[in-house]
Amino acid sequence: MANGVDMSGASSFAVLIFHLLAMSSIASIVEERSIYLILMEGEPVAFRGNGDDLPGQHGRRFDPNSEASKDHAKKLVDSHDQILQSTLDRGSYNKLYSFKHVLNGFAVHTTPSQAKKLQHVPGVKLVEEDRRTKPMTTYSPQFLGLPQTVWTQEGGDRNAGDGIVIGFVDTGINPFHPSFAYDILNPITSNISHFSGACETGPQFPPFSCNGKIVSARFFIAGAQALTPLNATIDIPSPADAVGHGSHVASTAAGNAGVPVVVNSFFYGRASGMAPRARIAVYKAVYPTVGTFADVVAAIDQAVADGVDILNLSIGPDEPPQDTVTFLSFFDIAMLFARRAGVFVVQAAGNSGPGPSTVLSYSPWTVGAAASRIDRRYLGSLLLGNGLNISGVGLSAPTFGNGSLLYKLVLAKDAINLSGTFPRTPQYVEECQYPEAFDPNVVRDSIVICTFSAGFYNDTSTLTAIIDTARVLRFMGFVLVANPSYGDFIGQPIPYSVSGTLITKVADAKIISQYYEQQTLRDARGLVTQFNAKAAIRDGRFASFGSQAPIVSRFSSRGPDFIDMDRNPADVLKPDILAPGHEIWAAWSPLSTLDPILTGYNFALISGSSMAAPHIAGIAALIKQKYPSWTPSMIASAMSTTATKFDNNGGVIMAEGFEVGSSYAANNFDFGAGFVNPSRAMDPGLVLSSEFEDYISFLCSMPNIDRSAIRAATGVWCSQSLGHPANLNIPSVTISALRRSLTVKRSFKNVATKPETYVGLAIPPNGTTVTLHPPWFTIAPDGTQDLDIEINVTQLTNVFGFGEIILTGSLNHIVRMPVSVRPVSIV
Ligand SMILES: *[C@@H]1O[C@H](CO)[C@@H](O)[C@H](O)[C@H]1NC(C)=O
Ligand SMILES: *[C@@H]1O[C@H](CO)[C@@H](O)[C@H](O)[C@H]1NC(C)=O
Ligand SMILES: *[C@@H]1O[C@H](CO)[C@@H](O)[C@H](O)[C@H]1NC(C)=O
Ligand SMILES: *[C@@H]1O[C@H](CO)[C@@H](O)[C@H](O)[C@H]1NC(C)=O
Ligand SMILES: *[C@@H]1O[C@H](CO)[C@@H](O)[C@H](O)[C@H]1NC(C)=O
Ligand SMILES: *[C@@H]1O[C@H](CO)[C@@H](O)[C@H](O)[C@H]1NC(C)=O
Ligand SMILES: *[C@@H]1O[C@H](CO)[C@@H](O)[C@H](O)[C@H]1NC(C)=O
Ligand SMILES: *[C@@H]1O[C@H](CO)[C@@H](O)[C@H](O)[C@H]1NC(C)=O
Ligand SMILES: *[C@@H]1O[C@H](CO)[C@@H](O)[C@H](O)[C@H]1NC(C)=O
Repeated sequence: MANGVDMSGASSFAVLIFHLLAMSSIASIVEERSIYLILMEGEPVAFRGNGDDLPGQHGRRFDPNSEASKDHAKKLVDSHDQILQSTLDRGSYNKLYSFKHVLNGFAVHTTPSQAKKLQHVPGVKLVEEDRRTKPMTTYSPQFLGLPQTVWTQEGGDRNAGDGIVIGFVDTGINPFHPSFAYDILNPITSNISHFSGACETGPQFPPFSCNGKIVSARFFIAGAQALTPLNATIDIPSPADAVGHGSHVASTAAGNAGVPVVVNSFFYGRASGMAPRARIAVYKAVYPTVGTFADVVAAIDQAVADGVDILNLSIGPDEPPQDTVTFLSFFDIAMLFARRAGVFVVQAAGNSGPGPSTVLSYSPWTVGAAASRIDRRYLGSLLLGNGLNISGVGLSAPTFGNGSLLYKLVLAKDAINLSGTFPRTPQYVEECQYPEAFDPNVVRDSIVICTFSAGFYNDTSTLTAIIDTARVLRFMGFVLVANPSYGDFIGQPIPYSVSGTLITKVADAKIISQYYEQQTLRDARGLVTQFNAKAAIRDGRFASFGSQAPIVSRFSSRGPDFIDMDRNPADVLKPDILAPGHEIWAAWSPLSTLDPILTGYNFALISGSSMAAPHIAGIAALIKQKYPSWTPSMIASAMSTTATKFDNNGGVIMAEGFEVGSSYAANNFDFGAGFVNPSRAMDPGLVLSSEFEDYISFLCSMPNIDRSAIRAATGVWCSQSLGHPANLNIPSVTISALRRSLTVKRSFKNVATKPETYVGLAIPPNGTTVTLHPPWFTIAPDGTQDLDIEINVTQLTNVFGFGEIILTGSLNHIVRMPVSVRPVSIV
């Protein structure tokens, strides 16, 4: 996976896990143990005695350190132990965690037959096998970054986020990074007494790591340890980040302002988090070798108890749960209870786009962030001897002479050692993976053309190997060109320690090939007698700004949201919102155990919806700082209703399609409410909010859902229904099957300081009419206003159509809600 190209988005990590599983199941004769997550009857500490109905000033609505809380926690833990002892055979299990703060339950490592016994024990509500998490949701983790200031201009200033604690459940953090340094000249003095963490130290995480910027750091490893032997070199048993992902995410959301980004001695600019003064609480729960939900849920349970304000989850399932609806998986339920406890939860939408129903964030109580390109592009180029200039990709220095001296151009297969004994496979002959394939005299001081082929296609060849070959054989530079047999490929700019560039388009590769063949003399057998083609690689490290943006990235997962494995659509909009997630600069871990090409670097330029989520987390911190009493759903609403569907050219935001380089006008299922606008989100005018009870009513309104499953997962009996799930008071309207007519209700609250008159406008989805009752209203500060939205079918299209509702206020607030409807019956 350590290469700069990715045709498939498939993760070699998943392949690795698969091999590990396959090996262990062959090796075992006894029943294989697994991790099971068990949910119990009875309220956890946070919701003991209905203490949760008052919105707190901060995330914490309960004091986990009070005597009563501690007593209650102990009772729960004892009851878990009691159940295990009395139900399972002695020695057949190992309890990994008791969850007690936001969930009452536990994780146990045991055999399937033992786990089955638990299902029938009174008090056990749910038994779910651990599906494992992906350590990274990044599409191509080797690429990320944020050296420039577009975001700081729009987002926070140097005080942004003060007083807020963002929790990161991820791969840990690099405590030595300047993005997380504590600035003694500009100390953070805000009161975060609502937060109480701990600083767990260990290898590569010395005691001074918790420095006032990083306020807490914990690691959760019992699940990973139970599943497979860990490698202490990479699976470091401390909050230290051996991967880079966790550091990247944390610095994107809350990294210090103005940190210089220097890679291979080149200064790329300065990096700043969205909320540079927010404090960071680290919950490491994902390891290079394996990630488990047991560790992640334990981390969430602790984060809520510690009192984080915002929780960003960069990890998630690879696919929907097998045997339950998406909203009721253990993971989604854990997030529901985190939200109930007042924590704003952001998830990456996923990196499996651009096909429909590829989202991995499902529930209306989380915010699922889709990823976009920003207006910055890094343009390298290859200058040919005939004066043609071909654009390429790569953060590389120019060839010697700053791109003006020309060097011999050599196609890899024309430079192989004819008497060599290596196999004549594409990896040796075309992809430049092995130095022994070449005649060193031919390639030295030349620019060598390597060609994308089977090895890159199946993810076994790497850019790292090309760079190593280039270094060993002293190439002047390398070019990796597209191959007509495989089509255009996706190349992301990553720093190369030798000169090089990626020519990702077949059409450009053909121009190079034509020139090369014209210039090159061959004998009767086709062997080269004279290389006359010449070229130079120009500097690829300078950014240009102002390109069309945002554009929904190809890899970004798409809606519609769905309720089960069969991908039956849900009446919920996913993804929720669009944020930058393409080629984002941010902090890295020099260990970079999963991405050798980035080893040694303190910063990396990476793409993925994982990179979009922390932008949302950071902006949520800014809103929370300004409005401490706002609930997570109010914060989510403020971001959604003020998001824009227009790009920097004033046109509708585009989305990249299946064909590399293709795009189309983005719709609600590509970008949710649109591209987040931090400054407008600070003053939304109206907000829509939903709380825990509303989410239960939403679940209870879904047709074909087993009421007892809702009760089992949430602990609450269905007593109220919304009539239709689309009546959940969220800032979008999604109806997956509209028969004739439906009136959905929304309720707005005025969070501005003055009375304001709003006039409604509906742009109906294809095949429908949308009527608003009342069409206009005046609303006092703190007042609420109900709106009936009547949607009628006029034409049977059987596919989703997209529209919107826009409320324009007399004081210039604009409240926009995306509407997505699939008409299935006209009568
Ligand atoms: C911080 O706030 C808490 C509660 O609001 C208060 O009890 C405490 O005295 C404050 N601490 C400081 C140092 O201001
Ligand atoms: C542990 O990881 C290191 C670094 O990747 C590797 O060199 C070493 O061989 C691994 N050890 C084991 C036992 O797998
Ligand atoms: C070559 O292309 C690059 C980027 O595409 C551009 O910056 C440069 O000016 C071009 N040079 C020439 C000689 O056309
Ligand atoms: C190198 O070339 C680039 C144009 O490709 C130019 O902007 C830059 O100033 C040159 N650097 C030096 C040191 O001449
Ligand atoms: C080519 O490979 C042969 C066999 O490995 C080796 O003996 C020979 O030195 C190589 N030629 C060059 C020029 O490296
Ligand atoms: C990938 O392609 C290369 C080159 O054809 C081949 O040698 C290798 O076996 C392939 N690997 C996999 C896992 O398919
Ligand atoms: C936030 O969550 C997303 C995915 O859900 C993840 O990719 C990203 O790393 C996380 N960011 C932070 C700041 O934790
Ligand atoms: C929508 O359909 C309902 C039920 O058929 C009907 O009563 C209502 O008048 C229709 N509204 C519009 C604007 O056509
Ligand atoms: C609306 O739906 C009709 C019927 O399916 C279809 O022919 C038409 O192209 C659609 N219009 C738009 C703008 O999608």
